[in-house]
Amino acid sequence: MRDPIKLYVVKSAGLFGRKLVPYRGEKFDKPKIWLVFGARGSGKSSLLEVLAHVYATKNRACIVDLFGARDGESLAWLRHPNVKSGAWKALLLHSPRISVKAPCDLKLYEDFCEEDLFKYDVIISAPQGYADFDEELEALKHATKVIYNPRRNTGRMVFLLMREAASWVYSRIRVAATQAPVKAQLIHLLREARHMNMAVGFDTQRASSMASDVRDISDYIVFKKLTHGRLPESLRFIFEYFDLDTMYNLGVDTFVFAKDDGKVGCGIFEKPAWHLETGEALSNLGIEFKEEPGLDEVITSRELVQLIMQRMDIREIAAYRKISNLEKRGFLKPIDNKKRDRVYRLADVVRAFREAYKIDIL
Ligand SMILES: Nc1ncnc2c1ncn2[C@@H]1O[C@H](COP(=O)(O)OP(=O)(O)OP(=O)(O)O)[C@@H](O)[C@H]1O
Ligand SMILES: [Mg+2]
Repeated sequence: MRDPIKLYVVKSAGLFGRKLVPYRGEKFDKPKIWLVFGARGSGKSSLLEVLAHVYATKNRACIVDLFGARDGESLAWLRHPNVKSGAWKALLLHSPRISVKAPCDLKLYEDFCEEDLFKYDVIISAPQGYADFDEELEALKHATKVIYNPRRNTGRMVFLLMREAASWVYSRIRVAATQAPVKAQLIHLLREARHMNMAVGFDTQRASSMASDVRDISDYIVFKKLTHGRLPESLRFIFEYFDLDTMYNLGVDTFVFAKDDGKVGCGIFEKPAWHLETGEALSNLGIEFKEEPGLDEVITSRELVQLIMQRMDIREIAAYRKISNLEKRGFLKPIDNKKRDRVYRLADVVRAFREAYKIDIL
């Protein structure tokens, strides 16, 4: 992908005509906000992936793809040529209740921290990595806190990818009871992004519900192929430049844009070869997710020793020592210290063994 995206702007040519000329004013080196909307399957997510790729290759931006689409599209970064070659390091965040096999580093979502934005080039979270939607929201909450920490080191640019932003807002309404605070929160996050050296690309099918609210804070409003349904009044200016027929028949590799400085134009981009196609199996990416059984349970130290004895060979054992070691080194905390038989949360135990000894005990 040598030049995966090309932009052209509309120039007036004399009194009556207009022409498109190559636009070289965009260097993809500033933390800008890209709002992309268009019909289902019009190539919105693919365009965001290409933008993320360009920011990462030109500025060494860290790609943060946390607000994933339900089908796990964000996981396709694992087959990006730079990840496959080892030039980029990828990290996948997940829940302690889901075990994951993937060709990248793994981390429990609650351990995601500022240093990861420097250590990794792509950081992914996908719905498949969580036991349920509430847990995924919990993970997003934690990640947002890390990324938006006003005291964090912003020395490296971040490209934040928010897929299907509108559905994300709507699904959060279920949690937040009303729409207004969720939208307000999203707008606040977008507005703050540039101060955190963060470019943002987000896509949505719902032009009317999102565009009017976020139009003023987007540097680029990008139109992909439109579909039936009225374009909100605030965006209808685009028809002064491109006619209805053009806007309803844009190819998947084409888009039209309006920039905050009044420039209007169009662009063409290459299909991201790593993109996850609808219905494509995640196993194509070499990833497997499995729900851990009963991790909400508690386990006594005696049961834990039995479990370890069943699972480990004799050379590994010294089980009591391992448990007390884990406690001493701060990896594991009993939830009830007073009883003779100490009691732990099974999820904590699994996690402690994974972190301290790199072994799975379940
Ligand atoms: N530049 C391109 N050239 C050729 N094909 C492309 C290009 N961009 C995307 N496609 C193809 O178009 C299809 C739709 O792409 P994509 O998933 O990005 O659309 P979308 O608008 O995000 O869809 P959805 O509304 O379902 O989220 C995919 O099969 C993708 O491979
Ligand atoms: Mg999409």
